[in-house]
Amino acid sequence: MKRSFRPLISILMLVALAATLSCRIAIRGGSGGGFAVSAELETTRSRVLIQPPPIQNFNSTLLKFAAVDTGEAKSKLEIEQLLEGSFAGQGRYRTFATWRRFNHHDVKARNSNGMPVMLRSPKFYRYWLDFRRNLQHWARKRMFQPDIMMDLVTLVKVPIDSHNGLMSSDNKYKSCAVVGNSGILLNTDHGKFIDGHEAVIRLNNARTERFEKNVGSKTSISFVNSNILHLCARRDGCFCHPYGGNVPMVMYICQPVHFMDYLVCNSSHKAPLLITDLRFDMLCARIVKYYSAKRFVEETGKALSEWGSTHDGSMFHYSSGMQAVMLALGICDKVSIFGFGKSTLAKHHYHTNQKAELRLHDYEAEYAFYHDLVKNPRAIPFISDKFRFPPVVFYQ
Ligand SMILES: *[C@@H]1O[C@H](CO)[C@@H](O)[C@H](O)[C@H]1NC(C)=O
Ligand SMILES: *[C@@H]1O[C@H](CO)[C@@H](O)[C@H](O)[C@H]1NC(C)=O
Repeated sequence: MKRSFRPLISILMLVALAATLSCRIAIRGGSGGGFAVSAELETTRSRVLIQPPPIQNFNSTLLKFAAVDTGEAKSKLEIEQLLEGSFAGQGRYRTFATWRRFNHHDVKARNSNGMPVMLRSPKFYRYWLDFRRNLQHWARKRMFQPDIMMDLVTLVKVPIDSHNGLMSSDNKYKSCAVVGNSGILLNTDHGKFIDGHEAVIRLNNARTERFEKNVGSKTSISFVNSNILHLCARRDGCFCHPYGGNVPMVMYICQPVHFMDYLVCNSSHKAPLLITDLRFDMLCARIVKYYSAKRFVEETGKALSEWGSTHDGSMFHYSSGMQAVMLALGICDKVSIFGFGKSTLAKHHYHTNQKAELRLHDYEAEYAFYHDLVKNPRAIPFISDKFRFPPVVFYQ
């Protein structure tokens, strides 16, 4: 009897572990960095009329290097272990108790072994089956597909439109604001301007109350990493809605075990809780790795092979802000970006007292990407030539 529950217990234990390990994706959204923004308004105008010629002189060594999926082996192993429900050599029972405390599942019910009754409930068994099915389905899409940008309307906008009672169509949002969380927003009064966009995308649940003048109050999409949802899953009803329960969430999975949180939370969410397609994640990862490697070689003069030891190879990850911008490129005719800059005079986040940059991502590399995005998007590798970039403007 006991044996048969082992897989379940270890899964739960993992979820507990995830709470403490946390993925390398910080609880923050695209802020930071000294990306100087000027004269984009003008660039934007001309780009609509004149398509710049495609740039084909990418450095093939860099492209090949960036195309290596460094995290693949580790992720495959992690997923295999999750599917088997086995995680050898860990203190299961104690950790499970932690999980249960965090996750509010059937806190009181216990049998004589001290094992929560919940483990035997049909409800939990269904989660377990769903967990395996969803995880497998998701993991199968770990591949490179340069055209995935063209599927974002179908993958993200159509379900959101349908939730909002709109007819689904191939139309993109006429204009989008992506709002990062940099403290520079406190120096501006962009609130009304931000809310004037057809869609407003906010990052990692940064609150808007008390900051409406600076950041606006409208939210069309709440973009988060799965670690945020994992933290929410510890609260009753998976409360993860600083913008109201009716606002759709789009989330990327930073640890496969977070699928458990997704399943637990998805059932209580009124609005869609969408997971980014892994092909889209892979594309973002390649692009940021390319810019990071390029900068590394150019600025340090070191060999490419040394990049990994400086950037923690398999753990290297793009930021939530970067992927939210990528999403906006795919679902909007026009993109305005706020709160992605940094200033020594400004707070790090507009909504927290966090002091400094967490060194989890290569923000400088992401700024190099944003620079190309504004000035010459064809200089961005890996995105299909068929994709038409919308005009992008960064606001300080
Ligand atoms: C491409 O990048 C690699 C690695 O930085 C470098 O060794 C090589 O010289 C570059 N090739 C060209 C043609 O620039
Ligand atoms: C998540 O919830 C939505 C709405 O209730 C549902 O349509 C969808 O099938 C759920 N997804 C999973 C994987 O259970």
